[in-house]
Amino acid sequence: MNLKDKDRLYVWHPFDQMKGANILPITRGEGAYVFDEKNKRYIDGFSSWWVNGHGHCNSYIREKVHDQMTKLEHVAFGGFTHAPAVELAEKIVHHTPENITKVFFSDNGSTANEVAIKMSMQYWANKGEKRNRFIAFEGGYHGDTFGSMCVTARGGFNEPFEHFMFDVDFIPLPNESNKDEVFSTFKKLIQGNDVCAFIFEPLVQGASGMNMYDHKDLSHLIKMAKDAEVLTIADEVFTGFGRTGSWFASDLLSEKPNMMCLSKTVTGGFLPLGLTAVDDLVYEAFYSDEQHHTFLHGHSYTGNPLCCAAANASLELMQEESFWPKISSIQHRVQQNIQSISNHKLVRDARIKGTIGAVEIDSGGKSSYFNNSGKLIYKKLLDKGVILRPLGNVFPVVTPYCISNEDIDYIFQSLKEVLDEIIT
Ligand SMILES: Cc1ncc(COP(=O)(O)O)c(C=O)c1O
Repeated sequence: MNLKDKDRLYVWHPFDQMKGANILPITRGEGAYVFDEKNKRYIDGFSSWWVNGHGHCNSYIREKVHDQMTKLEHVAFGGFTHAPAVELAEKIVHHTPENITKVFFSDNGSTANEVAIKMSMQYWANKGEKRNRFIAFEGGYHGDTFGSMCVTARGGFNEPFEHFMFDVDFIPLPNESNKDEVFSTFKKLIQGNDVCAFIFEPLVQGASGMNMYDHKDLSHLIKMAKDAEVLTIADEVFTGFGRTGSWFASDLLSEKPNMMCLSKTVTGGFLPLGLTAVDDLVYEAFYSDEQHHTFLHGHSYTGNPLCCAAANASLELMQEESFWPKISSIQHRVQQNIQSISNHKLVRDARIKGTIGAVEIDSGGKSSYFNNSGKLIYKKLLDKGVILRPLGNVFPVVTPYCISNEDIDYIFQSLKEVLDEIIT
């Protein structure tokens, strides 16, 4: 029995309807490529769900993880600590905005947000104030654990669970034409003194189709929240670690969030890790002689040394002299390609923020995750050796940072060819 058949027999994959699913076995990865059983090469144009930083099987990270494996593979993080975690927390505090001073560990992007949500709930409980509402953006995606799902836009992903979910006030993403209205709605909501926190994906909403918005508008909302003592949570699970052209999207904001949720590219795409980095205001609400002020949340693998070693190695690569010029070069090349594809008849919009490109196909219908038009294009791109996993009719281009200019061009050229084929 081949791997694909055996997989069908035993495995349940995420996000795909298993009935009729076409799962592709991958046998190895190298740099910006992954290879299938027949050694066919694919450019990983979505960085394996936006996690891959420095390329597949990067030798530096691999060696650092291996070294760590020979010293300490795991120890409980409750009551114990170890050098890779302390080193990582120090690095994160150093690279995040100045107000961020402490780092809490978990396992993935959803748990990084889950932790921030629970922390903001308990922050108010510890202060003896009853606050039970959250504000989030329409179209936001914050993960699939329960709290993260609750602050995620309703519909589609979470419909079967809606009647179990807590209430959230969703406001539209600000743009030139609606921002005054968004600001005034936000102001009214925070005046009620019952809002725990405002959570957002800074500058780019990933999963809902790479919706990009202005840093000044977000800074304005954060400022209003702070003035009303509402906590602010930047979900940088996707936007962190170079994706927006800087260390974090929050670097581009004039107002800094109280909490930053980090994951995905933090380990360069090697191992799962979630971090919730917070400022003193949050930390001090838990630092107390009262036992019940303790944050009673953790996971068995919290602070795993191998994950921390991978993250430390990945961050070291980000500190190399050649790293940021490479980010600028990707940004430039993606920008050129975005400009050129934006004139295609089948393209409704093409946009870029930092290294993140997005091509929105005009499929006649409304843009959404459930718009099926991307599926055919996805298959045709696979034939050409390009992996671009669509979000409905939107094709994000989120590449590993080791990608060559030629491969960036090839991704867009292939997409153009497929669109041309569809027209004719
Ligand atoms: C902004 C954002 N937050 C949270 C998550 C959830 O992360 P994970 O899939 O690691 O749980 C994602 C995943 O795509 C994301 O893009």
